[in-house]
Amino acid sequence: MIIIAWNRLFPPGCPSNPGPADGGGAYAKYDRRSGGPRPQGSRARPRSDGIIAVPNNGAAHTTNPRERFRQMFKTIEWTDDGVRMIDQTRLPSEEVYRTYRDYQGVAEAIRSMVIRGAPAIGVAAAMGIALGLKNSSARTLEELRRDFEAAAEALAKTRPTAVNLFWSIERMRRRMEACLAGGGSDAEKIEKARSQMIEEAQRILAEDIAANEAMGRHGAALLRDATTVLTHCNAGALATGGYGTALGVVRAARAAGKRIHVFADETRPFLQGARLTAWELAQDGIPVTLITDNMAGHFMRQGKIHAVVVGADRIAANGDVANKIGTYTVAVLAHENNIPFYVAAPLATLDLRLKSGLEIPIEERSAEEVKRWAGIPIAPEGVDARHPAFDVTPHRYISAIITERGIARPPYTRSLRELSAAAGARG
Ligand code: MRU
Repeated sequence: MIIIAWNRLFPPGCPSNPGPADGGGAYAKYDRRSGGPRPQGSRARPRSDGIIAVPNNGAAHTTNPRERFRQMFKTIEWTDDGVRMIDQTRLPSEEVYRTYRDYQGVAEAIRSMVIRGAPAIGVAAAMGIALGLKNSSARTLEELRRDFEAAAEALAKTRPTAVNLFWSIERMRRRMEACLAGGGSDAEKIEKARSQMIEEAQRILAEDIAANEAMGRHGAALLRDATTVLTHCNAGALATGGYGTALGVVRAARAAGKRIHVFADETRPFLQGARLTAWELAQDGIPVTLITDNMAGHFMRQGKIHAVVVGADRIAANGDVANKIGTYTVAVLAHENNIPFYVAAPLATLDLRLKSGLEIPIEERSAEEVKRWAGIPIAPEGVDARHPAFDVTPHRYISAIITERGIARPPYTRSLRELSAAAGARG
């Protein structure tokens, strides 16, 4: 069996793998290179080479698709030790888990894409704030608020497009203020706020998973049996608290007994499709075919793709969707080839304050991520390059937006507002 050692291709800290070179956070890893049977048992065991193997709890032995999913890796979780995340810069060759004990570490994990995907970033931000307050030595309400704002500011600066980040920070702020407005001495309120921040962050995680499962149920109805779905980037369990948005729809359709095959765009330049979607689907036993981004039109024209399902980082009031760079191209190709183009996203991804996608801030990442691959230059030294990390797909190309509250159809200005109002969500 040949397994590519991804970190030889994308060494940590190199421009195409901007994960922290020293790792950041304490880490444990499951080394796939042995190709041998997965370790059994419920505890991580240190090996002679110092690696801590993280068992997969027998996921491969389960036949029920939903049950099997539940036994997969955890994208992010709160532990007594800190916030534990799977390091997405090291997949697919290594399953490395990092534990962050302060908000600065979590902010760096978001910035360097150890954790990525709009809903997962939102969960990480909430947990980062919970860490900030857990570590706070504030004795007055003013000091506690100051510590909250320091964490919120650091986290908010990490990635500008994913609105879930700001939504989470705002929700945590409201929760803290509700605590501080309650009864008791300042010391009691501070103690209560600390523990409630942890609870609220865990609630955001649990609600995200539940929303994805609900979205999956709604979206599955849109896919017929024997469908091939094209997806772009990774909008799966890795991009969320679990289950996934776009891939959640695929999972739910399969759980309903439909035969679904996924075509995954590799998603230049960070390769979320190749590294993450292909890995995640393979873990779950879902058939996947990897293609390079420039092959999508070819397969659509050949009639091999029956539907496109993608996630979103921010959705404006008119239904314009910001998602991973290249999504717009896929949407235009789908339109040209009469293929339905669906977006799956939780209501937390709506930003109804923005009239259209023109107002969505687009993150511009380092051009080095375009000019180098695995640390190796793939363009002449000194050439100009650009790296917008997202693009905006105009609403006219979007057949439907799948949310946990149901499916929005055009005109989105009305349908999104109605869904949002029914859920009592921000708008
Ligand atoms: O740069 P990334 O990897 O964070 O971009 C992720 C995406 O574009 C996803 O499609 C989006 O966040 C939705 S994830 C459910």
